Amino acid sequence: MKDFRQMKQRGEKITALTAYDYPTARLLDESGIDIMLVGDSVGMVVLGYQDTTDVTLDEMLHHTRAVARGVKQALLVADMPIHTYETPKRAEETARKLVDAGAQAVKLEGGVSHVAQIGAITNAGIPFMAHIGMLPQSVREQGGYRIKGRTESEAEALLADARAVEQAGAFSVVLEIVVAEVAKQISNAIEIPTIGIGSGEHCDGQILVTHDLIGLFPWFTPKFVSPEARVAEEIRRAARAFIERTKSSDQG
Ligand code: KIV
Repeated sequence: MKDFRQMKQRGEKITALTAYDYPTARLLDESGIDIMLVGDSVGMVVLGYQDTTDVTLDEMLHHTRAVARGVKQALLVADMPIHTYETPKRAEETARKLVDAGAQAVKLEGGVSHVAQIGAITNAGIPFMAHIGMLPQSVREQGGYRIKGRTESEAEALLADARAVEQAGAFSVVLEIVVAEVAKQISNAIEIPTIGIGSGEHCDGQILVTHDLIGLFPWFTPKFVSPEARVAEEIRRAARAFIERTKSSDQG
């Protein structure tokens, strides 16, 4: 495992992208990505669910196994889906299952509220990535994907979350849709790297859902994403070319 704290100390930015299948994992790995996340975003961009709250552990295990076959150099992190880490014991069991499927580290959503679960995972010797800020597994309670850290009390709570997950043994922390200035303060306040998504440029690294980066889920692109490719358009173009070529081919 790369020393991500040392990368932070050196000011070297950490890169992370999601993967859910073997070819994507292999392509991202060959491109030199530092961290590959089998995110529960698989539910939305691959399985067609409305949000991540329907994703099951069996689905995560299936996709983690596929990604593990394609990864040689990146750190493979797998998401713990909703309802699989209610207690420390359950959290450790879920983390072990994901490790058995090929993950080298696991991630769950929560800060201060989940230090017991995080402690159980790190005490079991399983590397842990935290996730604070906007928590997609709570999107229904939170009423949407809203930016976090707008008020002083929210910013203070986020800082407390970041300190708590560091203390509980996380090796890094994802900051999702956090006010950029607050993300900067958090990054300066803790020693483990912050990996931002929609949280400004001052985080120690950046993570994106690969489908957003490559334009493979054209029906919704978060505001903070600047796609680098239009893969959906290429698929449509190739499919139309195939349809045209086949329909117009000689009948006899
Ligand atoms: O599930 C996921 O893809 C994630 C990232 C958005 C951080 O948790």
